[in-house]
Amino acid sequence: MITVGILTISDGAAKGEREDLSGARAREIVTRLSETTIQAQDIVPDEQAQISSVLRSWCDEQKLNLIITTGGTGLAPRDVTPEATKAVIERDAPGIAEALRSISLKYTPMAMLSRGVAGVRGRTLIINLPGSPKAVQQCLEYALSVLPHAINLII
Ligand code: MTE
Repeated sequence: MITVGILTISDGAAKGEREDLSGARAREIVTRLSETTIQAQDIVPDEQAQISSVLRSWCDEQKLNLIITTGGTGLAPRDVTPEATKAVIERDAPGIAEALRSISLKYTPMAMLSRGVAGVRGRTLIINLPGSPKAVQQCLEYALSVLPHAINLII
């Protein structure tokens, strides 16, 4: 069984001012994978320490196989998801981030504005996705078939 965590990073969603459509979209797509269970889902504001703290806890205590984050990857001053992720990963997986930007560029040139990263901490693969539900769908549907093999290599 592949255990998954979905973390939405958004000031608006964390305050309850905005519905977390991206986390819901990620959940819907991940559940298409067989032998997969979503064991954690949360929303945090764009605060680096808070993001890193949830990631550490999901990796080290919950020992999830996969964490998908959505949001906070752009160029705005409060977009700190890549920094929070880089602070916790032990090994970079640049091919995943490159592939997601590359497939995203087929939909929109705005894809070049995402600074999302991917990497491994312990036995957990962490992947940053952009914040819009559309981006989550476009990226996750592309990555989905690779995820079981990627996770098998880590565990
Ligand atoms: N990637 C895909 N596949 N589809 C999109 O619509 N939007 C882009 C980009 N990547 C987009 C995408 C936009 S508009 C931005 S600003 C960046 O992701 C960063 O988004 P974020 O700050 O919400 O993470």
